[in-house]
Amino acid sequence: MNESKTIVITGGAGFIGSHVVRLFVNKYPHYRIVNLDALTYAGNLENLRDIENAPNYCFEKVNLLDAGALERLFVQYAPDGVIHLAAESHVDRSILSPLDFVYTNVVGTVNLLNAAKTHWSGNFGGKLFYHVSTDEVYGALGDEGLFTEKTPYDPHSPYSASKAASDHFVRAYHDTYGLPAVVTNCSNNYGPYHFPEKLIPLFINNIINKKPLPVYGDGLYTRDWLFVKDHAAAIDLVYHQGKNGETYNIGGFNEWKNIELVKLLCRLMDQKLNRREGESEALITYVKDRPGHDRRYAIDAGKINRELGWKPSVTFEEGLSQTIDWYLENEEWLKHVTSGEYQQYYQTQYTTAHAS
Ligand code: NAD
Ligand code: DAU
Repeated sequence: MNESKTIVITGGAGFIGSHVVRLFVNKYPHYRIVNLDALTYAGNLENLRDIENAPNYCFEKVNLLDAGALERLFVQYAPDGVIHLAAESHVDRSILSPLDFVYTNVVGTVNLLNAAKTHWSGNFGGKLFYHVSTDEVYGALGDEGLFTEKTPYDPHSPYSASKAASDHFVRAYHDTYGLPAVVTNCSNNYGPYHFPEKLIPLFINNIINKKPLPVYGDGLYTRDWLFVKDHAAAIDLVYHQGKNGETYNIGGFNEWKNIELVKLLCRLMDQKLNRREGESEALITYVKDRPGHDRRYAIDAGKINRELGWKPSVTFEEGLSQTIDWYLENEEWLKHVTSGEYQQYYQTQYTTAHAS
């Protein structure tokens, strides 16, 4: 790990990507970290203010759909590795416009694979294409069981279908062309810099502003939550110690039914905002369900724990409390990301798609 390397991190201006970029820039001063991002509505360079002037960091505004730009970037930087996080990531948006997900998540990933394959061809030594994926590719669980690395793919939303396709392409490039590759499938992340269209940051923002909390369906859907910095630590470990061609599941060992999580969030926020107990819970509003809504996700993270020694470092109560504090201390960030395009999406999403 003392040798110098150049790593392209895609989607580094997004939620998880910004934590991965920050970790690598700070932990590996002898690496050169290139953040490749198109800066869509979800990409925000404000997420990286604290490291933007670091000598081992640079940003390149490139769209994955621009194959020529990807090739030029590979020639310019000659990267040793790629950590691929850029994606369209929100399930509800994928229901409104599936093709955007096919373009970025499938075509964009294949463009990136082609650039890596072309540039590295004949010399795969020391190279790695690391693809960051999701537990949603495995479909939905009933009351029992956990997703393992061997669970067959069964995606239900356009988002998870597009991520499943991208995973298959990465493995196909490994099997067909010998491209060194690893894939990780992670559960729901939460933490600072999470765009407020996803459950936890949306509800924090709405509680601050005393707006309704739109719980889909009966609220009994279950997700397995992981603090984003623990995901970034897992990515660091897999990048350096994961085995070529392998898949690792990453999860929080932390299942919550949506409604129970929302009530916990309401209680914590009432305390932190000095509001009357029960004030935020009164904002809960049940709305029409998400179509194709997966009932339960839960990850068996035993393999990464046994083989690489990874486990989450933060309890959910600690992580959630830190997350709420971060949003309360960064209201400017929230204001900036909730202006413009997001407001328009919010209008469409909650006045049409989820109107009861
Ligand atoms: P995000 O939506 O916050 O960020 C995505 C980033 O990708 C943004 O910076 C955006 O500008 C960039 N991007 C989008 N389209 C692009 C394109 N065509 N070209 C270049 N850049 C583009 O996403 P996130 O929540 O940080 O998720 C990151 C990755 O992790 C995704 O691949 C997602 O599928 C996966 N993942 C997310 C979670 C989660 O809970 N958020 C869990 C498991 C896996
Ligand atoms: O499981 C990993 C996935 O987690 C990632 O691959 C995705 O990129 C990420 O967005 C996330 O997907 P989810 O669909 O699970 O996350 P979301 O925050 O959209 O929803 C979490 C749960 O909360 C889900 O059951 C739907 C519900 N929900 C969501 C929103 C936005 C509501 O009840 N109301 C809401 O307004």
